[in-house]
Amino acid sequence: MDKIVINGSIPLKGEVNISGAKNAVVAILPAALLARDICRIENIPEISDVTTMVKILRQLGAGVKMIDRNTLEIDARSVNSYIVSNDLAKHLRASYYLIGALLGRFNRAKVAMPGGCWFGVRPIDLHLKGFELLGAKVTIDNGMINASADKLVGASVYMDNVSVGATVNVMLAAVKAKGLTIIENAAREPHIVDLANFLNSMGADIIGAGTDVIKIHGVRELHGCTYSIIPDQIEAGTYMVAAAATGGDVLVKNVIPKHMESITKKLQDCGAEVIEYDEAIRVRSAGRPMKCNVKTLPHPGFPTDMQPQMTVLLALADGMSIVSESVWDNRFRYVEQLQRMGAHINVEGKVAIVQGVERLHGAPIRADDLRAGAAMLIAALAADGRSEIENLSHIDRGYEHYVEKFSALGADICRVNVPDDDDEQRQDNAG
Ligand code: UD1
Repeated sequence: MDKIVINGSIPLKGEVNISGAKNAVVAILPAALLARDICRIENIPEISDVTTMVKILRQLGAGVKMIDRNTLEIDARSVNSYIVSNDLAKHLRASYYLIGALLGRFNRAKVAMPGGCWFGVRPIDLHLKGFELLGAKVTIDNGMINASADKLVGASVYMDNVSVGATVNVMLAAVKAKGLTIIENAAREPHIVDLANFLNSMGADIIGAGTDVIKIHGVRELHGCTYSIIPDQIEAGTYMVAAAATGGDVLVKNVIPKHMESITKKLQDCGAEVIEYDEAIRVRSAGRPMKCNVKTLPHPGFPTDMQPQMTVLLALADGMSIVSESVWDNRFRYVEQLQRMGAHINVEGKVAIVQGVERLHGAPIRADDLRAGAAMLIAALAADGRSEIENLSHIDRGYEHYVEKFSALGADICRVNVPDDDDEQRQDNAG
């Protein structure tokens, strides 16, 4: 078992390069299945969600060639299956994008229920309703989602809830459907725009991505293209908050400052100095953060995927802050870990009341999910003394080379392999 060991309380200083966006790449890789030839995709982060998605594409018959560490070529001509089994689908939430992509490609998809982070119930009714409106028949049998259509036909799809996943899936299924699809109350996240730009580079006709009405005129065929993934808004935000929480001075490079506005604003409310450049943001902070209230909302609101990291900063603030989670029902499980480090946080339903303390202390802690894991890294970097973080597979799903990146900023951080109870047991038996 791997653990991260951090000796904290060192202000982070220096520069960090942000990688390609996880939530964009996990939509764009399945989208490449819709092309009739080769897509070359650049700025792909080296994270385990990408490794899993590539395995799925290969299992479906696609040729996937690694050009360099961050560039892949996907040849979808050889794809010969519309079935994605549970053994791979269970590892990531975004496996449900294979339903939209395979429906768009074959008018047929059979995909196991998705895995990913647990934030309470994560329904997919809006995805399925969208497919049905486009003319597909959808059933769920034995944990497999079956969707099939004689022909997909454009339709008007109103989303009862703003859903990133459902917006992406309807775009994937509609892009080659006959006629016009209009998605109303669509999600506006940067990765929705990135997916639309990718599909348009392949010959799709999509307008309005980034607003709450997306219009998709179905096209007969999509061709290959070369495309570069946008920088990861959440990875950038994580380093920005880490800089502020450690009283550091960090230049976060390769970002789109417009995507960072809600995070920048909250850091400024907390008293950090945030300077925007064309493609970089510098966060400088000295002294204790100030309290502030945070409410998560769909884009352009404050992202729920930055809520745990921001709560760590507020746990160190002077005064009491309120954090309201309005996207997910259960996204405060990680608070228990922060309490082990001396944080004073009370959770009441979807609200956390954070009474800031002057210092956190190191402790053995656990990454409960991907962004909770990022929050544990920040807490350990800011805390006095030594912390050990377990359950790294969650963090590995979405952060490229984070040990190297934090080390380069001066952190005392390393990844160690320690025998876990099972390993010890196996060794005892072998001995
Ligand atoms: C995506 C992100 C995830 C982020 C979330 C919200 C990816 C791979 N994951 O997840 O990191 O936390 O957006 O920004 O991009 N809902 C329904 N019915 C549905 C679908 C969603 O009621 O069919 C509800 C959910 O319960 C939730 C809200 O809509 O309350 C938003 O969920 P959604 O935007 O769909 O999240 P994901 O796409 O799963």
